[in-house]
Amino acid sequence: MDLIEIIGGSPLEGEIQISGSKNASLPMMIASLLTKEKVELDNIPNLSDVLILVELMKSLGAEIQFDQSSDLKNKITCTTKEILNTEASYNLVRKMRASFWVLAPLIARHGEAKVSLPGGCAIGTRPIDFYLSILKKMGVTLDLKEGYVFASIKSRLKPLDFSLDFPSVGVTHFFLMMSSLADGRSIIKNAAKEPEVIALAEMLIKMGAKIKGHGSDIIIVDGVANLNGTKVSIPPDRIEAGTFAIAVSATGGSISLKGVNPNEINLLTNLLEQSGTKISSDGNRLNIKKDNKIIKPMDISTAPYPGFPTDLQAQFMALMALGNGRSTIKENIFENRFMHVQELARFGAKIKLKADTAIVEGVKEFNSAPVMATDLRASASLIIAALSAKGKSSIRRIYHLDRGFDKIENKLKSCGAKIERKRD
Ligand code: EPZ
Repeated sequence: MDLIEIIGGSPLEGEIQISGSKNASLPMMIASLLTKEKVELDNIPNLSDVLILVELMKSLGAEIQFDQSSDLKNKITCTTKEILNTEASYNLVRKMRASFWVLAPLIARHGEAKVSLPGGCAIGTRPIDFYLSILKKMGVTLDLKEGYVFASIKSRLKPLDFSLDFPSVGVTHFFLMMSSLADGRSIIKNAAKEPEVIALAEMLIKMGAKIKGHGSDIIIVDGVANLNGTKVSIPPDRIEAGTFAIAVSATGGSISLKGVNPNEINLLTNLLEQSGTKISSDGNRLNIKKDNKIIKPMDISTAPYPGFPTDLQAQFMALMALGNGRSTIKENIFENRFMHVQELARFGAKIKLKADTAIVEGVKEFNSAPVMATDLRASASLIIAALSAKGKSSIRRIYHLDRGFDKIENKLKSCGAKIERKRD
């Protein structure tokens, strides 16, 4: 098992190339199963979640080359001439929940699927009721047994007019993939508006899908009989960009993030500016500078896009734990996304939990400490805390980190951080 050792207390100075988005790569890779033709995706991030999905897609019949010739332009070429296997096993789905989404192309294109129930994870129970409801309304016969969803349909998927109780990102992806090949016009209301939903819709349109309204609450899809191959680039990872912006706000210094869409994280950057960080942007470059010691406390409440992203909550909490006063952090998306609180406390953070709200009393500085990552974004918050703490800290179970951050220690080292990955 690897661990990361950090000698904290120094500012971050330099520039970082932001990688392709994990949460856009996964649905866009899965969408490539919807066609018999070749799909090329570049700017793919080097992440364990991506590698797991490559294995799963190969097991279903996809011929995939993952060309890692250069970090900036990792490319996946995928051709699925036919679906050779319709089972997504528990062994793979349990490692990467989004694998469950392969149910959409398997059913839409092949009419049959046996996909493991994803199960819960550290941050929540992660139910799939909305997914099952959509499948039923589109005419799919479902049977849940032995921990699997057995799904089948003899004809083309029926179009549906559906209203989501909650703007689920995954369910919106699922709807887009299924309705693109359904027999008629489908409408989804209260759809998720995340940039990753827009990226998937744009890719499907390039493949021949007829989609309108993506990025708004109401998406209309007119199904087509087949989809064609395409060539697209994965958009930048807004959560990675936000994580680095928070990190330099905690350590002090000045970094420039290359290849970002600044407007996708402007709610975060506005909060950071109010808290005392200087931010400027030009085109797809975001410059973040923190040259004063005061971190003004801010209150946040996570929400679906364009609200404050739940995937930046843990990182922002690490910053507020060094704030000059009290902050409140309300988590509205997942029911157990405060696992980082106990680990931040080991650095000296003073945080009390009251149901879905964390009350953070800022402290002047952190002490270094050995800690343990509990989930993907929590591990990033521990890195931020360790970079801010004087002395040597260690973070174990960093396999969580490798799921969603592409070479984070190299990027931080290039900005002067004393950070090493070691064998435990
Ligand atoms: C996506 O997960 C992201 N994952 C998550 O990022 C992100 O936190 C989340 O969207 C919210 O933005 C990927 O894109 C791979 P949801 P997803 O469906 O689609 C409830 C990360 O760290 N719900 O929008 O699973 C659910 O319980 C990960 O990169 C139902 O109740 O999230 C949750 O409370 C973590 N029934 C809420 O919706 C359902 O059928 C939001 O979930 C489906 C969801």
